[in-house]
Amino acid sequence: MAKVVIDGVDVEFEAGEKIIDVASKVNNHIPRYCYHEGLSIVAQCRMCLVEVEGQRKLVTACSTPCTDGMKVSTKSEKVKKAVSGVQEFLLVNHPLDCPICDQAGECSLQEYSYKHGQEDARTDFFRRTYIDVDMGPSIKKNMNRCIHCTRCIRYCDEVGQIHEMIAQQRGNDTEIVTIDGNPLQTAYAGGLADVCPVGSLTTKDFRFKKRVWYLRSKDTICDGCSQGCNISASFESNLIYRLEPRKNMDINKWWMCDEGRYGFHHVHSPSRVLGPLIKTSDSFESRLWGDLIPSVSALVQQAKNISVVVAADATLEEVAILKTHFSSANFYSYSPSVEKTSEDKAVDHLIRRKDKSPNLKGLEESGLRPFSELKSGSDLLIFFNAGKVRVPYGLAKLAKNAIAIGVAMKEDLNGWNYVLPSLSTYEKSGTFVNHTGMKQKFAAAIAPVGLSRPLNKILEALTKSDRKVG
Ligand code: SF4
Ligand code: SF4
Ligand code: FES
Repeated sequence: MAKVVIDGVDVEFEAGEKIIDVASKVNNHIPRYCYHEGLSIVAQCRMCLVEVEGQRKLVTACSTPCTDGMKVSTKSEKVKKAVSGVQEFLLVNHPLDCPICDQAGECSLQEYSYKHGQEDARTDFFRRTYIDVDMGPSIKKNMNRCIHCTRCIRYCDEVGQIHEMIAQQRGNDTEIVTIDGNPLQTAYAGGLADVCPVGSLTTKDFRFKKRVWYLRSKDTICDGCSQGCNISASFESNLIYRLEPRKNMDINKWWMCDEGRYGFHHVHSPSRVLGPLIKTSDSFESRLWGDLIPSVSALVQQAKNISVVVAADATLEEVAILKTHFSSANFYSYSPSVEKTSEDKAVDHLIRRKDKSPNLKGLEESGLRPFSELKSGSDLLIFFNAGKVRVPYGLAKLAKNAIAIGVAMKEDLNGWNYVLPSLSTYEKSGTFVNHTGMKQKFAAAIAPVGLSRPLNKILEALTKSDRKVG
């Protein structure tokens, strides 16, 4: 295999691979602003300049392919001077507003400034200023911070596939705008905050909510549709603050849609039922688990004919637990958007799917029947969900008695005898099967919210009727 020597280290490469990616293989991070693995290469920020033996001028590592025997230096004096000069130039107009910038703590400009920048600014003129601009429901723009890397323009063109962002004017007056100032149309607008290397484009959802150094992050799977995008959830004090995509070249590459990105708010919604409820004559009353379990258990034991409807945001493990516990019941799957996986399809050029649940494939493979086969008239109907799939309106009326286990909203309670709060996707571990049949395991990001309990603990308590829900 062909080899390139980078800072004295031999590295193998495939034909066409660029110096910047080959250097990454040996943990040699070459600074970059305009380069992003998932976008076309424009080589315009010049931050990735490196020296190649035998070449008079420095070259951009993001656009220069490796050749066999090439000798590259990323840390020579010539490179250091050039990169420091580029950094100084990019900071000429950049405000000193890191203390109030959401990107602070994960900003390339900030990090490279420490590593490659100069200690003092030599500028003695005013920096250009703009007011913040609303770019639609997802993104707010702060043009003062922009370094004109054009990642956002390429992202809209190549990922969102809508030509809606441009650079207008030239030189010092260059400004990134949407065409005619229109709101962004793309269903992937939140990704602009991911690709923008500075704090110029931020999501309205996360902006000013939390300094990033307080956040911890756990890998999980988006439960917003049958694609099963790989994501991470950032949280602090058991509150989720944001979801971001994780690279998986087989599923979502570097991206996620806005619906998925902002689809976690039900977890901390003030409407979420966070303690067990029992229906009384005209409303619902809260009970402690221990006070409620005996009557729920009696209701289950008396029922001769049980139907269990499992929302397709349940995990494979939960389906197995339910089938074991209610072994003589009839089981049905429920997704709000499709009846069967055969009706599922892509809804755009990228990753979004028609089936707005993450595990219908898994439920079908577990032998659950389609929801349309559910008949009314059973003694007891049990519905189980994780909150991304809402409790269906009117479902409880199909049986004499009905118990909802899972994540219910207060406005969904009509008709249920008992509501037993269980966990959302972010509070539990489990496995989803995406639309291609790929099984993906995930772990809990946060601890159970309120008095919500795992399904297995609730069912164990029902069996033993010992009032304890562990
Ligand atoms: S807004 Fe961000 S992504 Fe767009 S050009 Fe400016 S710095 Fe780059
Ligand atoms: S495409 Fe589906 S799985 Fe991916 S982020 Fe959007 S909602 Fe989530
Ligand atoms: S990262 Fe190479 S020129 Fe911008």
